[in-house]
Amino acid sequence: MQRALISGNLTLDYAGAEALNTICSNLSFSGKNVKKIVITSCEPNDGKSFVSIQIAVNMAQRGKRVLLVDADLRLSVMNAHYGIQLTGAGLGLAHYLSGQCQLEDAIYETSIQNVYLIPIGTDVQTPLSLISTPDFDHLIQAVGESFDFVVIDAPPIGLVIDAAEIAKSCDGSVLVLEYAKTHRRALAETKQQMERTGTPILGCILNKVSMDRLSTKKYYSYGGHYGYGKYGKYGKYGKYGKYSNEGYYRREKK
Ligand SMILES: Nc1ncnc2c1ncn2[C@@H]1O[C@H](COP(=O)(O)OP(=O)(O)OP(=O)(O)O)[C@@H](O)[C@H]1O
Ligand SMILES: [Mg+2]
Repeated sequence: MQRALISGNLTLDYAGAEALNTICSNLSFSGKNVKKIVITSCEPNDGKSFVSIQIAVNMAQRGKRVLLVDADLRLSVMNAHYGIQLTGAGLGLAHYLSGQCQLEDAIYETSIQNVYLIPIGTDVQTPLSLISTPDFDHLIQAVGESFDFVVIDAPPIGLVIDAAEIAKSCDGSVLVLEYAKTHRRALAETKQQMERTGTPILGCILNKVSMDRLSTKKYYSYGGHYGYGKYGKYGKYGKYGKYSNEGYYRREKK
């Protein structure tokens, strides 16, 4: 099997690690048939890829054999952002769906124990024509049989419909919201669009939470220990975990 080296820094601070644990515990208790999940958000840059990788790693640490699928076929920057280097010919999802390779040629064993990866392989101009084929569905069903958990990193649903198409092959979807950025109306539209797929929305992840800003508010104490890592009901459709990695967030904003 080809190998993928993941050299990006995936270390979380205490709050981030706790919140991620909560999220992954919730996912683990979503039902034994919930194995294939798609991650999307309203807009670009909300943290879908970051969250997808973190969930994959955390699930792997729980002893599951996890496959991470990069399905952002138009504009994936996962490899560059997270220092992913592939051995071999660099084949991936685009090659498999266009009939240029076998499935096993597109799956990489990563440097993180129990985490496997299907990278995009190459950008494509019309990803929907690949994702909406029965081949994509066959692929997801096949990997659902051979892996314990499958995380699919999709493009933002506010821009392109790909995530909804991907969701049709999955057991559930997870929406990533960016703290102090995602608008209520955009979220409502995203929710509607994802619901139309018939695949349940498992919950939302409030990402890039600025603990500095939270700590000045009166609801600081709600989160228990430090005001984060809690989950509850978001709107009418499920659980969410607040997901914070404050130090990193602040570096991003400089
Ligand atoms: N919880 C977090 N803490 C700190 N930094 C984060 C967090 N989530 C995301 N980031 C950073 O924000 C940036 C955007 O994240 P990411 O690439 O995961 O977003 P995305 O939603 O996948 O974007 P795109 O829509 O372009 O695919 C990256 O630099 C990432 O490292
Ligand atoms: Mg991404």
